[in-house]
Amino acid sequence: MSFILTRLRQFSYLSMVLMVICFGSASVFAEEPLGTPELFDIEAFDDGINLELVNLGKTLFFDNQLSKNRSISCASCHSPSLGFGDGKKTSTGFANQQLPRHSPSIYNMAWNVTFMWDGRVSSLKEQASLPFLSENEMGMSAELLVSRVSENRDYQDQFRRVFATEEITEEQIYEAIAAFEMTLISNNSAFDKYLKGEKNAMSPAAIRGLELFKGKAKCIQCHDGTNLTDNSFHNIGVGNDTDLGRGVVVDDESLNFSFKTPGLRNVALSPPYMHDGSIASLKEVIELYNEAVANNGVLDELIKPLNLADGEINDLVEFLNSLTDPVNLETSIVTIRE
Ligand code: HEC
Ligand code: HEC
Repeated sequence: MSFILTRLRQFSYLSMVLMVICFGSASVFAEEPLGTPELFDIEAFDDGINLELVNLGKTLFFDNQLSKNRSISCASCHSPSLGFGDGKKTSTGFANQQLPRHSPSIYNMAWNVTFMWDGRVSSLKEQASLPFLSENEMGMSAELLVSRVSENRDYQDQFRRVFATEEITEEQIYEAIAAFEMTLISNNSAFDKYLKGEKNAMSPAAIRGLELFKGKAKCIQCHDGTNLTDNSFHNIGVGNDTDLGRGVVVDDESLNFSFKTPGLRNVALSPPYMHDGSIASLKEVIELYNEAVANNGVLDELIKPLNLADGEINDLVEFLNSLTDPVNLETSIVTIRE
């Protein structure tokens, strides 16, 4: 079974490589079809899921002791009750420091390939170190982090069971958290049920919205594939002139004010929106696309005024709502096991 799954994945990598060779550039890619994200596409799950590792990661993720003044955890900015965002325009650190960017939802990170709004990080494990070690977020040092974890008897037992070593390391902490994050999976929304043939799972308005998403509104040009993201960067006209986004990371002015296309699963659960949290509702997001106004730099060539009627804007919102399928942390890991 796992052999077949691995082959499937290799096939899709291979076809991507071939496409790059044939067309030279990612920008002429045909859109990936929308669909349901499948667990067999997650390489890390090939050998099964280490439930003890996941549970350890979950405990670490919710542990306030792991910030400098023991006041916040990962979950303070990625809260299950707020769609794994924090509901704020931009986040605040352990001592209430104002951070420059909005906390993104972290659903379906198992399929994600580029992390942060500017894509400066390439793995979940690597990502996990950043908030701990940032002086404005959790304010830890690697030594302090390891010693906080090590001073706890329960952690000592859990780490010993999971890693079979006496000494707790920074790497192990990040590995456990990444393993937990990979189980935050949303793939059974009304939209997924509709795709499986339950034609009543989506309302008529949501179905019209889906057609607009793929057609007249052309959202799928960037929000494509099973998680509704092209994993690429675009300037859609959001933001102030202090955050240059992707342009700084790759030292390319033409990408100034470009940010990562966020996946849209569970998007209705985590307002406000965009890298700066500047847009309060999904309706206003679509109104922005409808107008196509450049606030900064050069707007992506794919952004054009859409001439959507009010009814069409509402239909698109209904479609986005149909992507809602929150994780129940009590049962999710058990579900993944099946
Ligand atoms: C103080 C608030 C805050 C805390 C605490 C925090 N985060 Fe975040 N998180 C953010 C913000 C803001 C971003 C976006 C940063 C950027 O783009 O520069 C982010 C980005 C992420 C991303 C990338 C998501 C994506 O779509 O690329 C992941 C994954 C993540 N955080 C996980 C964690 C984990 C794990 C912890 C705990 C170790 C944590 N966060 C702690 C605010 C926070
Ligand atoms: C040119 C590529 C592109 C197109 C076309 C596009 N988007 Fe986006 N979308 C993005 C990018 C990039 C962002 C993040 C921008 C930022 O934060 O500055 C985004 C953000 C969003 C968000 C906010 C999500 C969040 O978690 O903050 C929603 C909702 C959204 N888009 C829906 C749509 C819809 C609906 C359409 C069609 C009307 C559409 N997008 C068309 C690239 C695109």
